[in-house]
Amino acid sequence: MAKIDIEKILDHARWAPSGDNTQCWRFEIVNDSHFAVHGFDTRKTCVYDYQGRASLIALGALLENIIIAATEQSLAAIVHYREDSKPERPLFDVHLSHAAVQPSSLLPFIRSRSVQRRPYSTENLTIDQIRILTTSLGDTHTLLWFDGLFNRIRMAGMLSAAGKLRLTIPEAYEVHRQVIAWNARFSIDKVPDQAIGLDRISLKLMRHVLASWKRVEFFNTYLAGTLIPRIQLDIIPALRCAGHFMISAHSRPVSVTDYIAAGRAVQRFWLTATQLGLQLQPEMSPLIFSSYASEGMQISSKASAQKQADNILQTMRRLIANDSNFDRIVFMGRVGKADPAVARSTRRPLAQLTTVDKFDTPL
Ligand SMILES: Cc1cc2nc3c(=O)[nH]c(=O)nc-3n(C[C@H](O)[C@H](O)[C@H](O)COP(=O)(O)O)c2cc1C
Repeated sequence: MAKIDIEKILDHARWAPSGDNTQCWRFEIVNDSHFAVHGFDTRKTCVYDYQGRASLIALGALLENIIIAATEQSLAAIVHYREDSKPERPLFDVHLSHAAVQPSSLLPFIRSRSVQRRPYSTENLTIDQIRILTTSLGDTHTLLWFDGLFNRIRMAGMLSAAGKLRLTIPEAYEVHRQVIAWNARFSIDKVPDQAIGLDRISLKLMRHVLASWKRVEFFNTYLAGTLIPRIQLDIIPALRCAGHFMISAHSRPVSVTDYIAAGRAVQRFWLTATQLGLQLQPEMSPLIFSSYASEGMQISSKASAQKQADNILQTMRRLIANDSNFDRIVFMGRVGKADPAVARSTRRPLAQLTTVDKFDTPL
């Protein structure tokens, strides 16, 4: 039997997507066929990581990558969640064993999958493409698909409202200030400014404004400061794509393992889109803000934010109508044909992710 190469598996797996490229995982190699994934979430510092759900979805994507990457060595990866780990520090054991499995057809796309935040072609997806994407979700999740000009306009309206909320609350400002790498095409642990989707001049202005919350408030109050970013980051991309999707769980997700299953389905969907030559951008802010509203949680110290979130929730409910319950939706975004992004987040080297006793995010 060939020796198992765990590092090779982890080297693929670390390319999983995570909110703002947080890479909310560290690895501990226990022996030749067993390693542990130490997860963490950012709920205390990141308004977008509502109850740690975004981090769990990212961890699910990572675990799916592990399972796919293991097939390259004809290995089955069995994942076990340690029920006694803290929800904000979930711990998973992965055991590898030789099995009669063929390398997954999704393996070549683990590395090339990336967010494209620029506009796409509006050419419709074919029925076949939609069927293949739906099938990729397996039997735990279903696809809600919104195409055609009317639906894209409705989505643009909702994303613009979420954009306004995002750009006017201090909690989101703190996140944006910390996660953007300026003057960068690549970043190993942040989002490079050139991957955000703004033109050069707007980027310069944004950098100037984000230097202090006072500047943000001044621009928002007197200079319609949210207008240009909303047009470039929310409205145009929402109109310029083949369509928007939502991924809905068959039953309401509540536990860590439910959100992990969601992340696994999301990753299969995203890798399949890449395999089909399509680009994808998650559009999570309407879903996150709606979740705060739906569960009666305070979103911001700013009083007007709650009403805005309530309105976004109403729009969400109208959009999904009878197709799903709002509380089953786990992910949303847009897809379409476009060139791959030329600027992207890269990843921390494996050596940084395996030094368990030297985490810069203490576990
Ligand atoms: C749970 C989750 C939520 C995300 N939400 C958004 C989003 O709302 N908008 C966006 O542009 N990207 C979003 N992303 C994409 C991440 O920013 C991206 O995966 C990360 O920066 C790494 O970049 P890459 O996917 O190009 O490798 C999300 C990713 C995950 C896993």
